[in-house]
Amino acid sequence: MEVAQILCMNKGGGETSYARNSSLQSKIISDSKRITEEAVESLIITFSNNNDTTSVISIADLGCSSGPNTLLLVSDTLNLIYSKCKRLTYPLPEVQVFLNDLFSNDFNYIFGSLPEFHRRLVVENGGEVGPCFISGVPGTFYGRLFPKKSLNFVHSSSSLHWLSTVPEGLLEGEEKRRMNKGKLYISPTSPRSVLEAYGRQFKSDFWKFIKSRSEEMVSGGRMVLSLMGRKSIDPTTPDSCHHWELLAQALTTLASQGLVEENKIDSFNAPYYAPCMEEVKEEIEKEGSFMIERFEAFEVEWDGFASEDENGLKILTRGQRVAKTIRAVVETMLESHFGGHIMDALFQHYGTIVQHYLSNNRTKYTNLVVSFVKK
Ligand SMILES: C[S@@+](CC[C@H](N)C(=O)[O-])C[C@H]1O[C@@H](n2cnc3c(N)ncnc32)[C@H](O)[C@@H]1O
Repeated sequence: MEVAQILCMNKGGGETSYARNSSLQSKIISDSKRITEEAVESLIITFSNNNDTTSVISIADLGCSSGPNTLLLVSDTLNLIYSKCKRLTYPLPEVQVFLNDLFSNDFNYIFGSLPEFHRRLVVENGGEVGPCFISGVPGTFYGRLFPKKSLNFVHSSSSLHWLSTVPEGLLEGEEKRRMNKGKLYISPTSPRSVLEAYGRQFKSDFWKFIKSRSEEMVSGGRMVLSLMGRKSIDPTTPDSCHHWELLAQALTTLASQGLVEENKIDSFNAPYYAPCMEEVKEEIEKEGSFMIERFEAFEVEWDGFASEDENGLKILTRGQRVAKTIRAVVETMLESHFGGHIMDALFQHYGTIVQHYLSNNRTKYTNLVVSFVKK
């Protein structure tokens, strides 16, 4: 099944919603902020050098989802544009912001928060803001979303590790034997062919992403991408796959209790891939339209160090916090395969397993951030 049909962050603002369980992704946005700011500042300078200060700046956030992070990125970027222009005594530009995600994304949640967003933006900038036009753009970022040469700045955070589809090649022979039994993603015990199938799918998807953006962006335009990845070229290292390994363990326990059929676990493979820097670089260089300005990898705790307890998060264990973070992202996908009836039991057990694991291990996620300029 196409990912566009099954991947959707938990909607609304309820207990298990993405909006209330995205502190990990918010930490990733804030850890990448320095690189994003640098790219936006360079963009303004390019604008000024072109004597182009009266034109419109077009920005796209790809895989924006719906929650506080969606508009956090937009307000950070707008604040930066306004303060930089004021410092340089340029007129404030008109800014067009496109928020993209898959068709099933909760765009209404975002639109509902726009009036408050505008009010805050005006206050934060002492009443001095330029015209800003925000719209939603549903569709997959693995193809064209915008007209040719129409974008100045593209951003995407915590989204590009989702593949367009489950890789082909996970079934073997005429009898279509399952190659990755008992696992949901690449694991240290997965056959080589599974690792290769995932790697191939990532490269093909990522190339399509870069190719589409190269057509949509103006020369001198900037792009900042941040995604889950790994440090080693070995795709079975814990930083890139152990959270899936533990989720498979939780499902296996449920199977032993008769709550899940084992063959359901064997037939599920996550449309996800955490690449290493070399894989990302290779596709960018192969496509050839962008120059890499910065490429960094940094570690993030599995729970993103949730520090607020607006959601009652402080009274939860780390394991439970991680379980909530993962649930908000993968629940709809797992529900469509395993059924909704097991979700509470699954994530409760997952939280316990993760808590136990993290009390003995220091595994963190690796996040990659790459900043480029369109040639
Ligand atoms: C974990 S959320 C990240 C959301 C937000 N950028 C943040 O940092 O909180 C990943 C988002 O990527 C979106 N996504 C995944 N594949 C996509 C695709 N092919 N095209 C557009 N959006 C996609 C998902 O629907 C989801 O909303």
